[in-house]
Amino acid sequence: MSDLTKIKNEFFIKLNRKLNLSELNDIKSNLFGKNGLITSQFKKIGSITENERKKFASDLNILKDELQNLINVKITEIQNAEINEKLEKEKIDITLPERPFVKGKIHPVSQTIDEISSIFSEIGFNVEEGPDVENEYNNFTALNTPDNHPARDMHDTFYLDKKKQKLLRTHTSPVQIRTMLNNKPPFKIIAPGRTYRSDSDQTHSPMFHQVEGLHIDKNINMGHLKGCLEHFIKEFFEVNKIKMRFRPSHFPFTEPSAEVDIGYQFKNGKLKIGEGDQWLEILGCGMVHPNVLKNVKVDPNKFQGYAFGIGIDRLAMLKYGINDLRAFFDSDYRWLNHFGFDPLDVPTNYRGLSR
Ligand code: PHE
Repeated sequence: MSDLTKIKNEFFIKLNRKLNLSELNDIKSNLFGKNGLITSQFKKIGSITENERKKFASDLNILKDELQNLINVKITEIQNAEINEKLEKEKIDITLPERPFVKGKIHPVSQTIDEISSIFSEIGFNVEEGPDVENEYNNFTALNTPDNHPARDMHDTFYLDKKKQKLLRTHTSPVQIRTMLNNKPPFKIIAPGRTYRSDSDQTHSPMFHQVEGLHIDKNINMGHLKGCLEHFIKEFFEVNKIKMRFRPSHFPFTEPSAEVDIGYQFKNGKLKIGEGDQWLEILGCGMVHPNVLKNVKVDPNKFQGYAFGIGIDRLAMLKYGINDLRAFFDSDYRWLNHFGFDPLDVPTNYRGLSR
């Protein structure tokens, strides 16, 4: 048997064993390394007689290519096998039974915000947002509430610096300013969010929620405001008739201004909204003051409209029969479990808001 045939046969015996990558590398260097079997054969070429040399060199080259190819194929095979083995081991068995886990609930305030947004977006309002940390200008000055205006004291403001330039917004009305400064009229927006005042008892919490409404266009009047709020209250409480009254009031940024009460009564121990002879205040509103429009570069001779600010937490308390506002922010899991909503029941107008 020639040397080449011997090399080839031995190689095949080795290659057919189960090999890992490093064993295969050993085989490779055994053949092609500095003193490898194939390498040594190449070194022999010079000492072979001329007649045989050509054939030998050609056979040797063919053998070299063949073995190299086989080794490369084997390397790919081994690498693939290793990857497959790894994938197999790391496979997640999704057929495992579901472990009992505690389901999250949607907080009643979040639910109420979703309901409110759904109602207003259906009648053409866009939803805007503003930051909780506001500057004094947007929260007060631009809203026609200059320095030393008594209304500033009424707000029990949390200031964040000695100069009283930065504060936690005391209402969502600064979003009116931000919206009008950054866009061109007409405006038709609502802006739900957190608001802050230094106040705490059964119906007041230092952090609470409001939704601002703003509708500015040509010829928008108090009748539009009334119609819009009546529509909202009916939809929100899911009733056909609602008793509501507009009580004259004062806000520096609206003229005229009003507060809106809705009628309610307790019937057989249950709160009934929209009827009865008790009144509950739920929002402040009015026609946007010309000074506010001037501050945001909107011409009050061309544009006018209304704004309102609704207390969200109060609405949620009324609708869902919650009698202490502070419970909203206690994060008591049992409470959340009882009053929370299913995350998959997103409120929509067509499917029902809260059912
Ligand atoms: N920002 C007022 C408040 O918090 C409510 C309001 C908003 C009144 C818009 C009029 C117009 O009391």
